[in-house]
Amino acid sequence: MTVLVCGGAGYIGSHTVRELLDKGREVVVADSLVTGHRKAVDERASFYWGDLSDEAFLDVVFRENDIDAVIDFAAFSIVGESVTNPVKYFENNIGSTLCLLKKMNEYGVKHIVFSSTAAVYGEPEVVPITESDRTLPTNPYGESKLCVEKILKWFDNAYSLKYAVLRYFNAAGAHISGKIGEDHKPETHLIPIILDVALGKRDKISIFGDDYPTDDGTCVRDYIHVSDLARAHILALDKIMAENISVTYNLGNGNGFSVKEVIETARRVTGKEIPCDIAERRAGDPSVLIASSDKLTRELGFEPEFNTLEKIIETAWKWHSTHPDGYKDR
Ligand code: UFG
Repeated sequence: MTVLVCGGAGYIGSHTVRELLDKGREVVVADSLVTGHRKAVDERASFYWGDLSDEAFLDVVFRENDIDAVIDFAAFSIVGESVTNPVKYFENNIGSTLCLLKKMNEYGVKHIVFSSTAAVYGEPEVVPITESDRTLPTNPYGESKLCVEKILKWFDNAYSLKYAVLRYFNAAGAHISGKIGEDHKPETHLIPIILDVALGKRDKISIFGDDYPTDDGTCVRDYIHVSDLARAHILALDKIMAENISVTYNLGNGNGFSVKEVIETARRVTGKEIPCDIAERRAGDPSVLIASSDKLTRELGFEPEFNTLEKIIETAWKWHSTHPDGYKDR
C-alpha cells in the first residue's frame, strides 16, 4: 500500500512517515519545507518538494505514484500567529487542503487521515472532552481545522470520500532513536522551551499565568507522545479503509499535567535547575484541556506506549540535548 503523506517533513508528519515505513508501507512525502525539514524525512520515502495549493505539483505527485490513501499534516499551527494573521491560516489550512481533496477526487483516492486539533473545542464545557462535545474555536487556527472537518463531511456526502479526523491534544517527545524530533522556528511549545532552558540556551521559562482555576493555578494539558500519535494514524487509516467509514477521534492520553508539573518533571529528567518566573496569561489559552481517549481505546484498541510524562520528556531530552540547534546540526 502506498500512502501520500502531506507535510511529512514536519514534526508529527516525520514521525508518522517512519512508523509507516517500519510497518512495511510505501511512503510518498509532499512538503513545501516552509516549516518542515528535508533532513527529517526518512531516506526510504520518496520526496516531492512543493505546495499543495499548486495543482500542477499535485498532478505530478498523483500521476507518478499509485497512491492508495493520504495522511494530511500540512498546515500552519501557531495559535497566536493565527489571531494576528487569519488570512495566512484560512488561505493555507483551508485553501490548500481543498485543493488536495479535489485532486484526490480526480485521481480516485478515497481515504484520508486529517490532522485536526483540540483547538476546535475552544474553552471546553466539561473535561475530559469527548468527540461529540461542542466545537467553538477561539482562534483562526482552530477555526481553519474545524472548517476542513466540515468540508470532509460534505466530500463524504457527495463523493464517498472516507476520512479519519484526528483531534490532537499536546503532541510532545521525540523518536526513541533520537534521530528526529521537534524543531519549530520560532518555538512556542512548552516542553522544547523548557529544555532550551535546561541546555542553557534560554535563561528561564516564563509560566503564562498562575491564576487559572486549577490546583496550582497553571494551565493543564494532555501530553501525548508523537510516536504514539503516529501509531494512532496508522490504526485509524487501517480502520477507515477496512470498514469504508468516516470517523473522528481525540488523540490524547486522558491525563492532565499543569505547567508547573511539566517543569518539575523536566527538572527530574534532566537533572538541571531550570529557573522559571510567572508572566502574564497568554491570550486564548483555555485553563484545562484533557481528552477523553475512551473512543480511541474502544474502537482502535489504542494504548499509549509512552504512558508517563517522564518517558515523554526523556525522549524529548535525548533529541534536544544531541541536537541543540535542531536539524541544523545534522
Ligand atoms: N506555556 C508557558 N510558557 C511557555 C510556553 C507555553 O507557560 O513559554 C504554557 C501555555 O500557556 C499552555 C501550556 O504551556 O498553558 C502548553 O502550551 P503549548 O504552547 O506547548 O501548547 P498549547 O496547549 O497552547 O497548544 C496545543 C497545540 C496547538 C493547539 C492547542 C489547542 O500545540 O496546536 O494545543 O489549544 F492548537
